[in-house]
Amino acid sequence: MQLGKGDMEIKTFEVADGIYRISVGPGGRLEFNHFVIVDERPVLVHTGRVGWFELLKEEVGRLVDVRGIAYIVFSHFEADECGALNQWLGVAPRAEVLTNRIGRATVEDYSIRGPRLVRGGERVDLGVHRLRVLETPHFPHNWDAVLYYEEREGVLFGSDLGAHWGVGEPAVEGVEVVEAVGGFQRETGFMAGGRCLEEAIEKLEALEIRHLATQHGSTIYGEGIKLLLGRLKAEFGSGVEAAGGRAYR
Ligand SMILES: [Fe+2]
Ligand SMILES: [Fe+2]
Repeated sequence: MQLGKGDMEIKTFEVADGIYRISVGPGGRLEFNHFVIVDERPVLVHTGRVGWFELLKEEVGRLVDVRGIAYIVFSHFEADECGALNQWLGVAPRAEVLTNRIGRATVEDYSIRGPRLVRGGERVDLGVHRLRVLETPHFPHNWDAVLYYEEREGVLFGSDLGAHWGVGEPAVEGVEVVEAVGGFQRETGFMAGGRCLEEAIEKLEALEIRHLATQHGSTIYGEGIKLLLGRLKAEFGSGVEAAGGRAYR
């Protein structure tokens, strides 16, 4: 479906049983992905930005009744993660926003409804799916960062982890994007490097991740995910000089 603005497109793809990826690719340079878990208690992962709320709502509405969304989750406070939070809360009257202790005050000040607090290791039962909360401060960036792992299908909602340029296939084998992900980080420096990255990746290495549902780029699957995590840790972890952030161009 066209967004009505040049080459902006919105596309839906089933990542795993009951888990859908909805991508928006403004300008074709970088994709912004949102995920929906269809279950007794449906979840929206990333609200997206305010500018594409109406289109996203229509697309999400093909999968679930948006009024019945139970949880809205995101990694950290940033426009692509939660910019349209209040628009979603407006159409989903029972939806709860999940955040951790660090993100709480920011969400309370911004949101039209207060958040529900979650802690690392906690599980949120959705019906047949189950989300595990991972607290990963400063990773991929921002102190309030958390990641969510869906245990039944082995899907990690990685936020900016795994990001790579372009609008391509909805899903690719990990080995195909290892270089692209490393190159994106080298170019932009947008993930905090050093010990935070290393500690977060070690938490992730203990999981059985079958799909890395990144926010930017193709969903990554297969054995290559392990290779990718290992490469990122080796290149940007604590044994090396911390990656400096660079201005986004
Ligand atoms: Fe981010
Ligand atoms: Fe992002």
